[in-house]
Amino acid sequence: MDGHDTGSRRTDGSAEGAELTLEFARRLSEAGPSRLGEAAQATVERLHALVTALRPTSDEFRIAIDFLTEVGHYADARRQEWVLLADVLGVSSLVEDLNTRRPAGATPNTVAGPFYRSDVPETAQGASISRDGKGEPLAVTGRIVDLDGQGVAGATVEVWHANADGRYENQEPDRQPEFNLRGRFRTDLQGRFRFATIKPRGYALPSDGPVGRLVTTLGLRLERPAHIHFRVSADGFETLTTHVYDEADPAIGRDAIFGVKPELMGRYRVLPPDGGPRRHALDLTLVLCPPPAERARIQGRL
Ligand code: BEZ
Ligand code: FE
Repeated sequence: MDGHDTGSRRTDGSAEGAELTLEFARRLSEAGPSRLGEAAQATVERLHALVTALRPTSDEFRIAIDFLTEVGHYADARRQEWVLLADVLGVSSLVEDLNTRRPAGATPNTVAGPFYRSDVPETAQGASISRDGKGEPLAVTGRIVDLDGQGVAGATVEVWHANADGRYENQEPDRQPEFNLRGRFRTDLQGRFRFATIKPRGYALPSDGPVGRLVTTLGLRLERPAHIHFRVSADGFETLTTHVYDEADPAIGRDAIFGVKPELMGRYRVLPPDGGPRRHALDLTLVLCPPPAERARIQGRL
């Protein structure tokens, strides 16, 4: 006897699983078609197949339920443990990719992450966004262009990044000045913008909750390679939310949220010494594309 013996016939459980899946679908169909029903059907089908393949013991099932319960207990307005779970499973990045497919040549979109603020005041071209002056100076020059390489004038470029300890201003409001390492620039007639800041450091996602524990128990990493976030909006273009990574960061190949793409590599150059701290420069180009409806209209004409 192996616990799966039905007495009259041995079964691997797949028949029972299939019957349950069909019965669930039958009940759903009585309620009529809906997007929610479609999602529930697809989820339950896969859950039944997963349980049949994995055959969790009752103890394992209870551990899974306890884990999900703890994730729920950790989630509140300040900390979204469910989003963190989606991030480390690659689900957030996949949803972003599927919803923001861009034509070849356009800069890919990425998740905004939890540290974005929309209320940053406009910042003068060339100004420093380091409001505490802590860290190695970094001069950023950039250009916003369209798919033909023409500069986009008057685009709004929002920028935010972590400090030299890998912490965002809104993670430690008592230790960093408000709006530290955040800016909002407007591009000039050639689509250019520039600002001074400090070189950001990579950081780790929180390890003190159930998601952090899951990741480390699996032998995976919580690190995010150093990056600067950008959100670019301009009339006639799809808003772009993206990261520019430090391609030399040792964690570049193991971003905990699977957000690194070859098009998003930034090359930081070390500037010649001037007797002060090490100085860096970063030059980047971000390529916008028309909004989806406009792209469809253009394609329809071709
Ligand atoms: C971030 O880069 O700020 C971030 C993105 C997703 C999850 C956690 C952090
Ligand atoms: Fe970030």
